[in-house]
Amino acid sequence: MKLIDFGVREDEKKYIQEWSKDNDIEVKIVTDLLTPETVKMAQGFDGIVAYQQLPYDEKIFDTMNEYGIHVISLRNVGVDNVPIEALKKNKIRLTNVPSYSPEAIAEYSVTGLMALLRNMKHMIRKVDQHDFRWVPDIGRELNQLTVGVAGTGRIGQAAIKIYQGFGAKVIAFDKFHNSEIEKEGLYVDSLDTLLKESDVVTLHIPSLGKGHTVINSQSISEMKDDAIVINTARGDLINTKDLYEAVASGKLYGAVMDVYENEVGIFNNDLTDEGLSDELLELVIKSPRFILTPHIAFYTTKAVKNMATISLDSMVDELKNGTSENEIDLDK
Ligand code: COI
Repeated sequence: MKLIDFGVREDEKKYIQEWSKDNDIEVKIVTDLLTPETVKMAQGFDGIVAYQQLPYDEKIFDTMNEYGIHVISLRNVGVDNVPIEALKKNKIRLTNVPSYSPEAIAEYSVTGLMALLRNMKHMIRKVDQHDFRWVPDIGRELNQLTVGVAGTGRIGQAAIKIYQGFGAKVIAFDKFHNSEIEKEGLYVDSLDTLLKESDVVTLHIPSLGKGHTVINSQSISEMKDDAIVINTARGDLINTKDLYEAVASGKLYGAVMDVYENEVGIFNNDLTDEGLSDELLELVIKSPRFILTPHIAFYTTKAVKNMATISLDSMVDELKNGTSENEIDLDK
């Protein structure tokens, strides 16, 4: 069996190499992203592993079919950049890593929130300028707030535990109820109710597709004054312009944005020389009330190792048994 792994970062290499040695399976490591051009490197391999934020071009899957490669394993969870119809057409199976570390993302939600509640961004900027005054950066305490967790999958469940540990009142919403959370009586009847009753809303749901936002001027108008939005999920869940205006006008307190609707090509790139031509993002970065980070909630040693190795394990299962527990149902 010969595998090829695309879009591999420096920090992932050692985990892939270790896995290759332990399993005695050849894995070619490629740093390039998977495109209609680079897929040509996969000729002669049995399976493709990849991770990228760049959308996967449909032509990639025609070429895979031509080469007789019928499995692609992603090192991440989200499949929103995969053209599912092209996979179906070419009879290509897809796996993801549904759970590499829910705790990494849940912990990051609270990390960002604490930074915002204690005005860390502004305070650190002031101290950098040798301004050591307290006022006006008085903090707020998490134990006095109601946190609304939207989405109670693995990440949402981990977030609930952490927020409860801080003494916050937690409420939750999901179309599919988890029995433990149900038993605790945390569910409210709709997302609208969650938005209305929360001081902090933390999003742990997948993308709803382009143009289908959860946080926009209409939903913001229903939210509590001084509420906070945390997004470690997908950028397109939020209309960023509406969110920015709500914070700038003082309706909302602030936001933690680890994802951004136009992040592809910006996040995880060094633009120090090139600069940034996205004015909205520039405003968000400047605002002390936005904690903006480049999609790093997942980025821990535990998660990266799991992403590298679980994707390869799934590939082996697919090639040996024709399926794996992480295969995505392309008809859903
Ligand atoms: C995903 O796993 O889909 C993520 O959003 C994390 C990614 C940046 C590796």
